Amino acid sequence: MEKIFKDQVAIISGGMGDIGFATALALAGRGAHIALCDVLPPASVVEKIKIVEDTGVRCTYDEVDIADAAAVQAWMDAVHNTLGTAQLIIANAAITRVGGIYDITPQEWRRDIDVNLNGAFYLTQAATALLLKHRLPGRVVFVGSWAGARAHAYIPAYSVAKAGMTMLCKCMALELAPHQILVNEIAPGYVAAGLTGQIWKDNPENEKAARARIPVGTVITAEEVAEQIVYLCDPANRQMTGSTLLMDGGLSLT
Ligand SMILES: NC(=O)c1ccc[n+]([C@@H]2O[C@H](COP(=O)([O-])OP(=O)(O)OC[C@H]3O[C@@H](n4cnc5c(N)ncnc54)[C@H](O)[C@@H]3O)[C@@H](O)[C@H]2O)c1
Repeated sequence: MEKIFKDQVAIISGGMGDIGFATALALAGRGAHIALCDVLPPASVVEKIKIVEDTGVRCTYDEVDIADAAAVQAWMDAVHNTLGTAQLIIANAAITRVGGIYDITPQEWRRDIDVNLNGAFYLTQAATALLLKHRLPGRVVFVGSWAGARAHAYIPAYSVAKAGMTMLCKCMALELAPHQILVNEIAPGYVAAGLTGQIWKDNPENEKAARARIPVGTVITAEEVAEQIVYLCDPANRQMTGSTLLMDGGLSLT
């Protein structure tokens, strides 16, 4: 595998989740050192860190609630001091809560927006501020969702947060373009892992119906999402910024 990110540092929120971890491995395989955060205690992720290190790069892990701006800033400073300035910034952490408009409490609504949208802002604001300070180019990838552009009943806060992320991506892309920092979003459809995997485990009927709706007939793997994130980070991509890369097997066309 060509080491296109050799000696660069990648920072990934929610890095112990399925898509986050697949992305860590995909970027590490191309030579990037990896900084991960998640809400899991460090003792529970030792084996996963070793898997990343076995690819020949350095890997750090911090327990950080991405919705806590001060904690995110502290994490950013720690990564900067141990690995260097992160030039590949992946805003991936998220939660879903299944329930209609009248099932969700104001506290739950706030928490979903805090993690899924505000957390992505805290991460990308802090990380790109360091790039500007050190006059370095970079790539930001927001992990959005097709649900950000297509109405879904029963995941309202998640969908609203992902819709907000699309506009955050565009605003940030415009502001950072003159600094050679490209900002894009990836919007997967149903990924047979992580958040959807959990929903499907609890509701097998839901999975059957979802699979039947996908025009290309197959669900996405976490590794496929990771490869598209690599594509957006690739130094050969010099013009794409402010875009949402939709990879939903044609779902949005139906
Ligand atoms: N799985 C899908 O079908 C699908 C589809 C479209 C988009 N996505 C997006 O992909 C991204 C990754 O999701 P996934 O499917 O791998 O799910 P996942 O649950 O495996 O990964 C999400 C990770 O984020 C972490 N996290 C949750 N709250 C956090 C917080 N407050 N601070 C830090 N970390 C936190 C979780 O612990 C988890 O490890 C999400 O942004 C999700 O919206 C997933």
